[in-house]
Amino acid sequence: MHTLPFSPAAERNQQPILDVLRQVLPAQGAALEIASGTGQHAVWFAAGLPGWTWQPTDFDALALPAIAARAAAAGLTRVQPPLRLDVLAPRWPADGPAFDDAPPRFFDAVFCANMLHIAPWATCAALMRGAARHLAPDGVLITYGPYLEDGVPTSPGNLDFDASLRARDPGWGLRRLADVAQEAQAAGLVLRERHGMPANNLLLVWAREPRAASPLHPSTPPTRSPDTPHAQNPQRPV
Ligand SMILES: C[S@@+](CC[C@H](N)C(=O)[O-])C[C@H]1O[C@@H](n2cnc3c(N)ncnc32)[C@H](O)[C@@H]1O
Repeated sequence: MHTLPFSPAAERNQQPILDVLRQVLPAQGAALEIASGTGQHAVWFAAGLPGWTWQPTDFDALALPAIAARAAAAGLTRVQPPLRLDVLAPRWPADGPAFDDAPPRFFDAVFCANMLHIAPWATCAALMRGAARHLAPDGVLITYGPYLEDGVPTSPGNLDFDASLRARDPGWGLRRLADVAQEAQAAGLVLRERHGMPANNLLLVWAREPRAASPLHPSTPPTRSPDTPHAQNPQRPV
């Protein structure tokens, strides 16, 4: 297995992320993963969420064969053949039937780890818009990675990481959570849960903005467990 591309960080964070996914996601569903990278997360989460199918994708066509090989080696048929998907492209995925071709394909979860800080800022708005387009009505977008939070001291490790990213590419760098939330809101998504994760990372759950009840559109009953408001979430970064 280690002849395949391997990310030590993904190896370290996959179980803590899975533990939160098990709390956040319903028992069954279809997930779309953006920026799957090595495919370690896809395989780990599909194995750990037996009611879910997992659609891995990546911007880099060269990453796809290794993702497929990793899923095959794990014997996981619920990991679907990886697709090339650039969040910045108007069409998701890049090749084959588009998710919005008839019949459209909707996902119960869109998962994206560690892309927003290692890609141009425009990928944030694109991720939010694409997720809003392709999520089922009760679906959630889950983002994972390091963020800068107003009023929360940034760890020295994250400050160093931010500086090293910006040195590699001035368009990269840790994103301010308030800015990410603004892009989400522009796409009709709001932050529903914030989970502090090891190594000063956050797992964020974004959902559609609840529609205001109106005489024409009476309120739709929620089908998920009650929200965990950001301000009241007891979890803090470690
Ligand atoms: C640091 S890796 C993260 C991989 C994996 N999610 C993880 O956490 O281990 C960043 C990934 O973002 C992908 N990426 C960069 N720009 C992208 C874009 N515009 N659309 C989709 N994926 C992109 C890269 O190809 C790469 O796989």
